[in-house]
Amino acid sequence: MSADKIVVMGIGYVGLPLAVMLAASGYEVVGVDVDSKVVESVNNGALDSEPEIISLLKREDLTRRFSAREKPCEADVYIISVPTPIDERKRIGDLSYVNAAARSIVPFLHKGCLVIVESTVPPLTCRETIIPILSESGLTVGEDIYLAHCPERILPGKVIQEIISNDRVIGGINRQSALMARDIYNNFVKGQIFVTDDITAELIKLIENTYRDVNIALANEIAAVCSTLGVNVMEAIYLANQHPRVNVLSPGIGTGGHCIPVDPWFIKEVDPVNTKLIHTAREINESIPERIAAEIRKAVRDIRDPHIVALGMTYKPGTNDTRNSPALRIIEMLRGEGYTVQAFDPRVAGREFDSICQVAQNADLLVVLVEHPEIVSELEGSLEAVKNCMRTPRVIRFYR
Ligand SMILES: NC(=O)c1ccc[n+]([C@@H]2O[C@H](COP(=O)([O-])OP(=O)(O)OC[C@H]3O[C@@H](n4cnc5c(N)ncnc54)[C@H](O)[C@@H]3O)[C@@H](O)[C@H]2O)c1
Repeated sequence: MSADKIVVMGIGYVGLPLAVMLAASGYEVVGVDVDSKVVESVNNGALDSEPEIISLLKREDLTRRFSAREKPCEADVYIISVPTPIDERKRIGDLSYVNAAARSIVPFLHKGCLVIVESTVPPLTCRETIIPILSESGLTVGEDIYLAHCPERILPGKVIQEIISNDRVIGGINRQSALMARDIYNNFVKGQIFVTDDITAELIKLIENTYRDVNIALANEIAAVCSTLGVNVMEAIYLANQHPRVNVLSPGIGTGGHCIPVDPWFIKEVDPVNTKLIHTAREINESIPERIAAEIRKAVRDIRDPHIVALGMTYKPGTNDTRNSPALRIIEMLRGEGYTVQAFDPRVAGREFDSICQVAQNADLLVVLVEHPEIVSELEGSLEAVKNCMRTPRVIRFYR
């Protein structure tokens, strides 16, 4: 297939770097986003994005081939990278964005078109949801037009590096679809590309994040047991990991982001009977912010109207992504109980600070919720000075 023009539906964390890499590979790329602010910032290069993406978007050869707009248009390939959150009440995937994106390209589909779903979706979504929508074009999916699922594995903070070097799995609703999609990704992926069917590809992405979730839950449960016993959990895990076939992960303040707290539910929704461990792990990890909030309360229980300063608001170190952030949940929980909590994060627009000393001024507790590298290095150099600025020199960090 000779694809010249590619439309990327949804130019957020996943869609924008993909669109940029496709344009860098020589395709004419249109990034489509329903959010006019996103479209405007991409077209003006005024992005709150990773430095590598910003510098690629300054390359003149690339900007000639890439633009953003609010509505889809004619193209040879459509790639859907819109959000797939969880329906919080039903704990099943909310496919409304994917469905809307698929429906909006239907008028532009023509014989030979390829549609690729990059959004993480529950198994069977391509077959049971996307094919019926694309069929509204009057074209036969698998014969006239082609459909593949190519889940994304990027790590926020290292997006361009990972989009190039990670291995990828591409699942087609038939082999022709998978091979056509592989031809597109082959232009910039240096890792291996494995071809399979759509349902397997949908499930693989979910297995990956569920594997992480279950193992994090185990580490969090071990941390609770260690606390009961008065054992140092980090020492216990380090020593257990000296076993040649053991690799316990680190406990934390909870899981966040767009993937780990969401994807395990997508497996549960298609097979609730066989997913007891997955369900329990999710519930353990969801309960961790409450446990951390309890530790913070305990640290200030002897102080009347304590002034708490929280450092870190993102869902993990090294990113500006605050989606489903356990740090935010902890902060909101404490504020909801009447505590005065001021929150800062060097990576969150509007919450940056000049120095930890300055924000910790007159605080009774400094709690580090996210160990961004810049927070770690500043604390290493000036912990005593920070304590000297505080009204009560108490600092809590978790699992170090
Ligand atoms: N962020 C990650 O690290 C990551 C990693 C792997 C997979 N994923 C998956 O990739 C998908 C996208 O996630 P993201 O992090 O890029 O989300 P995002 O919110 O950063 O970006 C999605 C964009 O899609 C736009 N959008 C919504 N509906 C649209 C529509 N109908 N047409 C066009 N644009 C529309 C939104 O305005 C938004 O800008 C999700 O399924 C997610 O689970 C994300």
